[in-house]
Amino acid sequence: MNDLLGVQFDGLQLDNPLMPASGPLVGDFDKLRFMQDAGCGAVVTKTISTKAPVIPRPCIYGDRDYVMNSELWSEHPLATWVDVFLPAFMKIKDRPLIISVGYTEADMELLIPALDRFADAFEVSTHYVGTDLAKIGRTVAAIRARTAKPIYMKISPHLPDAAGFAAAIRQNGANGVVAVNSLGPTMKVDLMNRRLVYGNADGYVWTSGPVIKNLALAAVRKIKSAAPSLTVIGTGGIQSADDVLEFLVSGASAVQMLSGALLRGKDLYAKIVADMPAALKKYGFSSMAEAAAVTLSTPVSYEPVVPVLIPERCTKCQLCVRVCPYFAMVLLDRITIDPAKCFGCGLCIAKCPTKALR
Ligand SMILES: Cc1cc2nc3c(=O)[nH]c(=O)nc-3n(C[C@H](O)[C@H](O)[C@H](O)COP(=O)(O)O)c2cc1C
Repeated sequence: MNDLLGVQFDGLQLDNPLMPASGPLVGDFDKLRFMQDAGCGAVVTKTISTKAPVIPRPCIYGDRDYVMNSELWSEHPLATWVDVFLPAFMKIKDRPLIISVGYTEADMELLIPALDRFADAFEVSTHYVGTDLAKIGRTVAAIRARTAKPIYMKISPHLPDAAGFAAAIRQNGANGVVAVNSLGPTMKVDLMNRRLVYGNADGYVWTSGPVIKNLALAAVRKIKSAAPSLTVIGTGGIQSADDVLEFLVSGASAVQMLSGALLRGKDLYAKIVADMPAALKKYGFSSMAEAAAVTLSTPVSYEPVVPVLIPERCTKCQLCVRVCPYFAMVLLDRITIDPAKCFGCGLCIAKCPTKALR
């Protein structure tokens, strides 16, 4: 294993913590090979189920910092995976393969025995299962009865009780969680044409990409805090090596990415892997394993602190004046802060384009 970038969990050894997230970029043999050639630490498949879905087209929308999709699971039947894609991948495979499966207990009875010989681990989409934790627990038990491989249950962000989810799946033999699936339902309006742009039969889509990163980070931390013995694989909005580190220090053992590559190009996988050593150095980590072992501190203060202006950095653009929620800033001969009005909220510091406030 790579000493600098390598991570290991549940008997799996990855040369680096980046994997593709389940979706169209891992939907057949050529795409699995692409991810291996790109240098991903492990490869994940598109979710395989027992019935082929009917998918509306178009089904993927991309904007500056989000993706919306109305895709379902793999358009290829189980037989094509078992007879064609996976045997072909086994011939070239040189790193762990996580097979994504969905959705019901009955599906698992068919899927797990058919796929077990190809899988180093299973990832289970709970996206269309609902929020009933007992049902999710029974699904885990149905898989555990049919495989000794690690099982990772993928959590959807609309599931209200992440800690309850963690407890239910652990009791039934899961090794961990993939957090998170795409967020929704969401929708996209075309105002000019009075219509919804994309969507399923009801007009709804799922949202992913950088806009969900902070939600995904919180889900990772919540699950890891609630169930430290579970492995957490972080997913949602990753588009740089810095993002990978953010997920590791939040409690993830490894990460997955899809939307970043849909928005910025598929070469992003290789770029992030290449950028990892510099990112480790920039933030003072000796290895990915060290980053994954971090526990984040939570500095909370209730004392308001009035920002201080650094005049030589200030361009007098007055963005701080315009955004201040407490009307505490004004441009006189220089930006001036009224300490009686300032609440110490910190927004001006965050928004200042020249870092002239601290
Ligand atoms: C077009 C598209 C298709 C997806 N298909 C699946 C899927 O088949 N199974 C699954 O578990 N997640 C699926 N996802 C969710 C992603 O795997 C991932 O959890 C989510 O997009 C958040 O990561 P990201 O922001 O890096 O894309 C899909 C997402 C997109 C955008």
